[in-house]
Amino acid sequence: MYNSYPEEVIEEVRISNDIVDVVSEYVKLERKGKDYFGLCPFHKEKTPSFSVVPAKQIFYCFGCGKGGNVINFVMNVENLSFIDAVRLLADRARIQLPEGGDEEELERAKLRKEIIKINTDAARFFFNNLGNNEKAVSYLKNRGINERTIKRFGLGYSGEEWDSLLKYLVSKGYKESDILKSGLILQSKKGGFYDRFRGRIMFPIFDLRGNVIGFGGRVTDSSLPKYMNSPETLVYNKGRNLYSLNFAKNSGEKRIIIVEGYMDVISLHQSGIINTVASLGTALTESQGRLLKKYAEEVVISYDSDTAGQAATMRGLDLLSNIGCNVKVLLLPQGKDPDEYIRKNGVDGFRKLVDNAVSLIEYKIKILKNQIDTSTTEGKISFLNKAASLLSKIDNSVELEMYVKKIAKDYGISEESLFAEISKKTKAKGGFRKVVVNSGVFENRPVKEGSSKKDDKLVHDEQFVLALMCLDNSLYKLVKDRLTVDDFTDENNIKVAKIVFEKLESNKGIVSAELFNLLDETTANVFSRLINEECHCDDNKSAIMEKIRSIKLYKIERRQKEILDILKNDKSLDEGDVERLKIELNSLVMKRKSI
Ligand code: GTP
Ligand code: MN
Repeated sequence: MYNSYPEEVIEEVRISNDIVDVVSEYVKLERKGKDYFGLCPFHKEKTPSFSVVPAKQIFYCFGCGKGGNVINFVMNVENLSFIDAVRLLADRARIQLPEGGDEEELERAKLRKEIIKINTDAARFFFNNLGNNEKAVSYLKNRGINERTIKRFGLGYSGEEWDSLLKYLVSKGYKESDILKSGLILQSKKGGFYDRFRGRIMFPIFDLRGNVIGFGGRVTDSSLPKYMNSPETLVYNKGRNLYSLNFAKNSGEKRIIIVEGYMDVISLHQSGIINTVASLGTALTESQGRLLKKYAEEVVISYDSDTAGQAATMRGLDLLSNIGCNVKVLLLPQGKDPDEYIRKNGVDGFRKLVDNAVSLIEYKIKILKNQIDTSTTEGKISFLNKAASLLSKIDNSVELEMYVKKIAKDYGISEESLFAEISKKTKAKGGFRKVVVNSGVFENRPVKEGSSKKDDKLVHDEQFVLALMCLDNSLYKLVKDRLTVDDFTDENNIKVAKIVFEKLESNKGIVSAELFNLLDETTANVFSRLINEECHCDDNKSAIMEKIRSIKLYKIERRQKEILDILKNDKSLDEGDVERLKIELNSLVMKRKSI
């Protein structure tokens, strides 16, 4: 289906990337028996229903139904196409991909290394510059940054000349074309090169392994722009990194505080609050959210309290909570950022704020209260209504009760009216029913309507046969005398059947994880559910025979109905037609008996 790399190569990439290792880079996994469990990175949950089965090299979430092999996992978690996920995993396993991909990929890997070397040398150059520049030294001093912190974060200064860094890097033997790709220099219209960062305090940005991947640079006065940052390069993607996560992840704390600025991180860090990171001058992204989720049990958002900060907080809250993070908001007094606050109120003051951080619901209701004038009756009703809407989303009744009590008290409304309003909203939602999934996990799934349920069953039975054959290749002997590829009816199933039958016929064998190399996302989820929830048969042989029987039976019955329908309703039939249909009908009755 995805033809840009040969099947065997894709399979080699898959086999060379152990799914437990790869998933562990994104999800905290705990071993339970033979399998691993963790919080699903694809939907919000508080108890783990996301499983990884090392023996089968597949993952599956009993909660949201997403599943597949290691390639599917990377596609979903990194938001990549199939081919790009294969490339990423090939890189990870140091497998060289063939054809065009090969040389190009090698070239990119070389360039990536070179850019990191250039960045590292540039960071040293900036750092060594700092001591020579009085303005820069006194700026940092005035902001209360000490020598130790400067060293720890590798802070530096970019000279005011047009090309001091360029000259330095060229003298170290780097090519201008490579330096250009690091983003540290720019090319003028006339073709000459010059430094991007000039006369700025430099903040090197490290990845988790401590490589210098980019820079932020701040002016030492009130000129604009206040900050300049490295552009996106082969090694720097601002949406996928967090400033200071390399330190925060080793802080030994369960929670990570996320702030807006470099200076906030550095200031808190200097005061001993090491579990702090900053998003790199962008709105928080999902990739950053997943990084946080991996390294922290709780994330505390501590953005500025101005309007822009509030909007960013709201977005961050929703994003983090949607990917399943426990998230809280630290309330800073108006007009303060964490750096200013800690400098005025000391570390204990700040720690108090962290301990008093409020939950998502409390924060939203607080903002609501600020937006609505509740001194009027109309305002009161509107507030009650909107607060109830927010509260109706809580599905845990103990939690709900706790919030209702607290909010009723804080905002002077009666618990009864709040509860009444909430239950109206909950009923209005409707359209969902509780189902019990095999694992015993309860979950809301929309009731599916329309489309022939019977045809769904046929498609499902076909998939069952294919899945079970992949789990137990020996079944092919049984299947091949009874079913051929042509017997499959669903378009997707036919594609899969062609490959499975061909592999088994030529004795190549196929494992279930390999099957996922061939499936689109929706089909992959269907097959994961089958493999993880349904295909646990006491006796594979009789299970598959039963499904084959039911497939055949269903097809016969469907044709029988069709014929009866034609005979009854089609007025244009001549005698010959009628005769032929009756003969077919008879043969179907015979066929039915024989299965
Ligand atoms: P100070 O003013 O020195 O305290 O800086 P800060 O680190 O507290 O930054 P601030 O809260 O003003 O901004 C938060 C982050 O947004 C910064 O750390 C930068 O990453 C980014 N940022 C701020 N101003 C600019 C700008 O002018 N341009 C760009 N590209 N990014 C900026
Ligand atoms: Mn600041």
